[in-house]
Amino acid sequence: MSKKVLQLSGLLFGSALAVRGQAVLYSQCGGSGWTGDTTCVSGAVCTVINDFYSQCLPGTPSGTTTPSTTPTTTVKPTTTAPASAGKLKFAGVNIAGFDFGCNSDGSCTASAAWPPLTKYYGADGAGQMQHFVNNDGFNTFRLPVGWQFLVNNVQGGPVVDANLAEYDDLVQACLSTGAYCIIDIHNYARWDKGIIGQGGPTDDVFAALWATIATKYKSEPRIMFGVMNEPHDVPDIQRWAVSVQAAVTAIRNAGATTQLILLPGNNWTSAETFVSNGSAAALSTVKNPDGSITGLIFDVHKYLDSDNSGTNTECVTNNIANAWQPLADYLRTNGRQAINTETGGGNTASCVQYLCQQIAFQAANSDVYLGYVGWAAGNFATGYPLGETPTQSGTTWTDTLLVQECLAPTSGSQNGS
Ligand SMILES: *[C@@H]1O[C@H](CO)[C@@H](O)[C@H](O)[C@H]1NC(C)=O
Ligand SMILES: *[C@@H]1O[C@H](CO)[C@@H](O)[C@H](O)[C@H]1NC(C)=O
Repeated sequence: MSKKVLQLSGLLFGSALAVRGQAVLYSQCGGSGWTGDTTCVSGAVCTVINDFYSQCLPGTPSGTTTPSTTPTTTVKPTTTAPASAGKLKFAGVNIAGFDFGCNSDGSCTASAAWPPLTKYYGADGAGQMQHFVNNDGFNTFRLPVGWQFLVNNVQGGPVVDANLAEYDDLVQACLSTGAYCIIDIHNYARWDKGIIGQGGPTDDVFAALWATIATKYKSEPRIMFGVMNEPHDVPDIQRWAVSVQAAVTAIRNAGATTQLILLPGNNWTSAETFVSNGSAAALSTVKNPDGSITGLIFDVHKYLDSDNSGTNTECVTNNIANAWQPLADYLRTNGRQAINTETGGGNTASCVQYLCQQIAFQAANSDVYLGYVGWAAGNFATGYPLGETPTQSGTTWTDTLLVQECLAPTSGSQNGS
């Protein structure tokens, strides 16, 4: 449909809130590959954020005189404009390996964990992180680890010093780059099929795990505590929030009073159903011991492929209309923030297009979105469909297409160069 016809239909059908063919405030209105509405409702102007993304922001088109007639309908946003639009605080990559051997039913085998460090015959995760920081401008790494590895397969058992020391080698490699480092327990809310607090490990056992980790890192401000990777099919979301609360209380009481803690919802931490599936409401009850919510950040994931699984190399959506926009509205209205700790796609033109759009949208809403972390580098071989592992040749590292074009802050995907 042509732009002209769309504008005409807008004139014919009146109300600014429901004008067909005009994009509403804060929605996308342009960018490479964009086929939707390219004009904004009255009171908003289509603003180029970068090549991949234009957004309707409050204002009047420049070079256009303000109509002297009073508009019949005033668009009054229910939420305030992004305060710090344009720059995400965190941009990172997952450095996988310690989570290898973990299945989505929460069964992990300690011996299958494969540290992404040359010292342990893995990939050079330390070198990768240095490259990502020095050459690409990344400042965050998420370091997935299986619960079973940390306690050496003993359910309910304490963290084993030698195993934590091995994991700490990766954490220290991350910290030494100057980046933020997310500790991610990669267990899908489970231990061997049993859901934490709901038939599986007790909240106390889970809290003890986090107390040990938080005690170790309480003095390190650049550590973030990722309470749990991708809970799914958790029958009682209110009860899950109680388990998350137990972890938060344990972390804070261990002395890690100021670091960010990432709170995971149900349905694989889907950004799209975070509100509708009840996770937002349930996790909103989680508080610091002092009753505040300072530093408690919602953790959400989103892939861009046809079945939202993050296993296909072609991308079909930028997730803005179905996930990022409605979630941004919710977060702004409720005074909360989220971080996207897993996203990614294949090294294909479609994923470059859509992921760049997603990141540009997140950056344009950086008052509520703190950042993103791509999945994944570390011990993934370069043949892995969603691989972000750079190839090393001597002292030169070469990035994958998606890292080069979208994920790396130096790509300009956030600020339009
Ligand atoms: C949320 O998703 C779970 C499955 O993961 C489902 O059992 C539950 O009914 C959903 N809850 C809501 C409120 O949609
Ligand atoms: C889980 O999320 C996906 C999209 O991310 C959605 O298609 C599915 O319906 C959701 N399931 C539930 C139970 O909410």
